[in-house]
Amino acid sequence: MNKKINIAIDGPAGAGKSTVAKKVADRLSFVYIDTGAMYRALTYLALKTNTDIHNEETLNQLLLNAEISLKNEQGEQTIYLNDEEVSDKIRSSEVTNHVSYVAKHRAVREEMLKRQQQLAQNGYTVMDGRDIGTAVLPDAKVKIFLSASVEERARRRHQENVQKGEDSNLDTLIEEIRKRDQIDSERDVAPLVKADDAIEIDTTDRSIEQVTAEILTIVSAVPERD
Ligand code: CDP
Ligand code: CDP
Repeated sequence: MNKKINIAIDGPAGAGKSTVAKKVADRLSFVYIDTGAMYRALTYLALKTNTDIHNEETLNQLLLNAEISLKNEQGEQTIYLNDEEVSDKIRSSEVTNHVSYVAKHRAVREEMLKRQQQLAQNGYTVMDGRDIGTAVLPDAKVKIFLSASVEERARRRHQENVQKGEDSNLDTLIEEIRKRDQIDSERDVAPLVKADDAIEIDTTDRSIEQVTAEILTIVSAVPERD
């Protein structure tokens, strides 16, 4: 599609952002940008180097010296931290359970915002996260806020874990997701909140295909010229 726009997709964990964002990007030949992966990569690095994740200054220094790249290799999204491929490592439960503390710090968010805005400066991106429509791309032509009940979101994660052959407990997942939602929504800087001009889609009872189609319809209504 030849519309030089950016599409912002926000929402809590397990709402379906990355799955749907990738499909929308594929269908439009846009670039998919996973901003959560950037916070996860920094968290992975902090844990690996025993950096105190509650110390804003040391964490920010760590980020300023780190190159985080999002690549597309054979149709797969891969994440590099300096020269290390970390795509799977950043999805560990250890990273998942610490990332919201890392993402709370103002200095970290300011640097991430700069990097993310640069990635989207030429348009043609689908970017997902928590603060894309509110802070990173407030002028995005399309803003979507995906939601789903916490039980459904945990059930989806549980299913993923089971499919990967990993230990998984639904009740623990519900608690972990609730906790992460709370930290993400209550932080002072760029909290998880629906932008006033975002369109909310409750995905609880909707399939991936239905949600993708709904977003593509919204995109097709955007005029060719901005
Ligand atoms: O995939 P999942 O929804 O579990 O999480 P993610 O998108 O990988 O994001 C991981 C964490 O990074 C979130 O829980 C937030 O704490 C943080 N994050 C953020 O603060 N702002 C963003 N734009 C993206 C992620
Ligand atoms: O990125 P986010 O954490 O918002 O969610 P995701 O990783 O895209 O989706 C979590 C899981 O829910 C994946 O296994 C999807 O296949 C599944 N899903 C679903 O069952 N129905 C939807 N409408 C969207 C996602």
